Amino acid sequence: MEWSREERYRKIEDITEEEYENIKQKVKSSPYRQKYHIQPNTGLLNDPNGFSYFKGKYHLFHQWFPLGPVHGVKYWYHLSSADLVLWEDEGIAMAPDTVYDSHGVFSGSALPVKDYLYMFYTGNTRDNNWIRNSYQCIAIMDEKGNITKNDFPFIDTIPEGYTENFRDPKVFKKNEKYYCLLGAEKENSKGTIVYYSSENLSSWKFEGELKTKFCKNSGFMWECPDYFEINGEAVLMISPQGMRAEGDLYKNVFQSGYLLGKKINFKEGNFEHEEFEEFDRGFEFYAPQTMEDPKGRRILIGWFGLPGIESVTDKYGWSHCMTLPRIIEVKNGRLFQKPLPELKNLRKSEKKFEFNLNNEKIKLDNSRRNYELKVNYKKIRAEKVGIKFRVGKKEETVFYYDLKNEKLIFNREKSGKLVKNFEGGNIRKCSFNKKELELNIFLDESSVEIFVNDGLEVFSSRLFNESDSNDIIFFTDGEVRVEGVLWEF
Ligand code: FRU
Repeated sequence: MEWSREERYRKIEDITEEEYENIKQKVKSSPYRQKYHIQPNTGLLNDPNGFSYFKGKYHLFHQWFPLGPVHGVKYWYHLSSADLVLWEDEGIAMAPDTVYDSHGVFSGSALPVKDYLYMFYTGNTRDNNWIRNSYQCIAIMDEKGNITKNDFPFIDTIPEGYTENFRDPKVFKKNEKYYCLLGAEKENSKGTIVYYSSENLSSWKFEGELKTKFCKNSGFMWECPDYFEINGEAVLMISPQGMRAEGDLYKNVFQSGYLLGKKINFKEGNFEHEEFEEFDRGFEFYAPQTMEDPKGRRILIGWFGLPGIESVTDKYGWSHCMTLPRIIEVKNGRLFQKPLPELKNLRKSEKKFEFNLNNEKIKLDNSRRNYELKVNYKKIRAEKVGIKFRVGKKEETVFYYDLKNEKLIFNREKSGKLVKNFEGGNIRKCSFNKKELELNIFLDESSVEIFVNDGLEVFSSRLFNESDSNDIIFFTDGEVRVEGVLWEF
């Protein structure tokens, strides 16, 4: 179904209760609804926004178009949680209802300041000729959850040399100063990050661009920046649009990754860093955002989706979800992403298994849809070791270590329903050269996240399977010792 501009810019406030009830019923009839991932009640979910800890709870907002599975006029939707596992629905946080955000309350971040949560977002507007103008705005949430938008933007002009693609404020405090990073497109069609500084959150000074060495095949627009320092190093996160695929890399429609380097001195804005690395080696992952929690952990959550793709669930009136939260660690110059330890709260029954495989397959009894699996492949004497899951009469999803070519390979070509023309096809690979393989896999109704060797690599994918495709099979073409645990959720 084609959505007209008019339909995309209809607000939830303008439709009848009956009309909204119909959309809800459509979603209710959907297979593929997730059991423990954040998903929209109706319509389309995209970027995580305002990820923060405030007044004893975690808060997460997300981009939302309520009325259907398309990118229409965006709202901020609010969820809160005590443990990042079970989330409470807090309803709409911000609607596109001012002159500065009339065509969408776009992405941004949040920062607790004294008794308030400051929320920084991009107000998206269009004029009569559909020319975009972006404003950077602040809204303030109090302890009770009341949100008040400031009357005027804190940044209301776009500096010379940049296009109207100028958005997604990430605000943080460093050395008693506030900094605001923004994703931008230069007039020469190059993506970049610009930044502003402020002493008081009300007057802001344009500082210029962060100077990186990431300029070859770096895309035309960098969305959703984030920056943090960890273990004496610095991580600049960006979601560049327009990179070309190179071998196994950058195969999704847009990429999302980071530059790891030395702490940035924001006086000059120079950043010395390593090569751009993708966060996720799989299929749907974009626009992640991080926060530091009271335990001092750097936690990341991403959009389990991508811009411009269709979803198998579109016909049921909803699309996309969030990834699981991941803990970020940096060790020996490498970034690790580990599943949030609190996810253990989801575990119900536990089944341990171990066996030696000798050029064979072994099937693990399973009829569950939602589970966590930990499996270690030890003493590998083989060219291939791996696992198939969601296996049924016609379906299988395959993940394996190709030792000969030193690669991890994830194949979802026979995984069930797929969206048409998925950019880069349905196989993803990355380089890998370790003696042992350790997988920590999380299956939900319509997704899988595979953490490899303690978070050294992660592969994520949405999955749309038949309800009886649940077998788990371990395989090798040589010899290997397999040990693991399956926790049903
Ligand atoms: C990234 C993005 C952001 C923008 C938001 C709008 O997915 O394009 O740059 O603020 O989505 O929903």
